[in-house]
Parts: sequence; C-alpha cells; structure tokens
Amino acid sequence: MTDFLKPYAGGVYEGRARGKFQLYTKNAAPGFSVYGEKTMSDDNGTEYRSWDPKRSKLGALYQKKLRVPLASASRVLYLGAANGTTVSHVSDILAEGGGIVYAVEFSERPMRDLVMLAEKRNNIIPIFSDASRPELYFPIVEPVDLIFQDVAQANQAEIACRNAAYFLRDGGHLILSIKARSVDVAKNPKKIFTEEIKTLEKNADASFKILKTIDLAPFHTDHMGVIAVKNLKE
Ligand SMILES: C[S@@+](CC[C@H](N)C(=O)[O-])C[C@H]1O[C@@H](n2cnc3c(N)ncnc32)[C@H](O)[C@@H]1O
Repeated sequence: MTDFLKPYAGGVYEGRARGKFQLYTKNAAPGFSVYGEKTMSDDNGTEYRSWDPKRSKLGALYQKKLRVPLASASRVLYLGAANGTTVSHVSDILAEGGGIVYAVEFSERPMRDLVMLAEKRNNIIPIFSDASRPELYFPIVEPVDLIFQDVAQANQAEIACRNAAYFLRDGGHLILSIKARSVDVAKNPKKIFTEEIKTLEKNADASFKILKTIDLAPFHTDHMGVIAVKNLKE
C-alpha cells in the first residue's frame, strides 16, 4: 500500500488529490483508464483509479460512508450499465475476490463502449437487453448475491423486484438508485420515493426489507439511494 492511499471499505481506497478526500479502486486493467479518471501507482507498481462520486451513484454511496455490501459478493447483476463508468469500478472491486458482474444495457451506443470495456476485463459479462424483461437474459445469468440498478425509468422499483425474483438469492442485497424525475417530473420527489419504497416492501414478485435510504445530493440531485435485503421466501 502507498503511504498516501489506505483501505476505506472492501476493495475501495482513500487518499487525497489536490488536498481533497478522494476514493480509488485498484485497476483490474492496468494501463487503461475508462472515463478519463486519474490513476496513480504505489511503490510496487500497483495502479489505482480515482472514482468520481459525481459520475457514479454507487461512488456517491461510498463517499457518503454507507456500508455497501459489494466486496463480499461473488456474482453481481448490474442494471443500466451505460458505457461502463461505474461498472468498471465494480469490476475492480470484484476482481480482488474473483467475482464477476453481469452488466445489462439496452442502448446501442453505450453498449459498444461496454463491450470494449469487457474485452479488457475478464469479469464483466455485457448483456444487450431490456432490464424490464429479465426472462430474456434468464438463460445466461446465474443466481447473484447483489443487484445494483440505475436505469432511470418510470417503474424503477418494479424492475428491481422482477429481476430479484429471477436472479437474487434469498438474503441477497439490492442497491437501487431512484431518480425521481424519471418516475414523474411534476410530482414531489419525496412522494415518489415513498411510493417506490412501498413497492419494494410489498411486491408480489420479490419483496425487500429496507436497510438504508439516503439522499444522493450534492453529487446527484433528486436521487435517492436505497440499500435493501431480499426477504426470505416463506
Ligand atoms: C443513468 S444511466 C446509467 C449510468 C451508469 N449506471 C453509470 O454509473 O455508469 C442509465 C442507463 O440505463 C439505461 N437503461 C434505461 N432503461 C433501461 C432498461 N429498461 N434496460 C436496460 N438499460 C436501460 C440507459 O440506456 C442508460 O444508459
């Protein structure tokens, strides 16, 4: 470990950049940066990538000091992967324990970047599909320990529950970023968050116990982060 980086949470490191607190992950594809992020190497030549919480809801959750149950997961399903900004950090974290991430994205343009990212990292499985139709990728995704979702769709909680019914093991975790404006631009965000939480707690496909909710401001406005655990089947 460098004298300027120290462990922060499983697979995540903290240091200072220009005098400011900064999170890092260990680069699973040394020599390559993904979205122009800064890298630094320690005395042993191990490379670390800075993680910008303004570019990543998951990064914001770490920065806000939440206990994120990611490092202990061996299989992760990531819904709304875009071009892989956050997926790349998930890949870094999971690589330390030999885990893999299934990354679902339905837009062609970002999907191309995601596929290129997966070519450099053997623990990302890119899936070009619609997250609201998990039956389409059911044949290729194994049961997972954690679902992370950032899809910016109207029925965000419902999509999470549907995927959890297919893939999330009982007692597995969900990390959900709820974007109020994607549900209803005119409605009060607080009302939207309450309704989405209710869906998570009382859904027929899969239900959750909410462990933590947090406002993602100032990194992301009108976004709420939710960490929940899947209820055991009765
Ligand atoms: C806010 S961006 C995700 C950013 C990404 N999570 C990151 O931090 O790097 C939302 C992404 O979800 C994708 N998306 C929205 N609805 C989706 C769906 N039903 N299935 C798959 N991807 C979806 C969009 O195309 C977009 O790329």
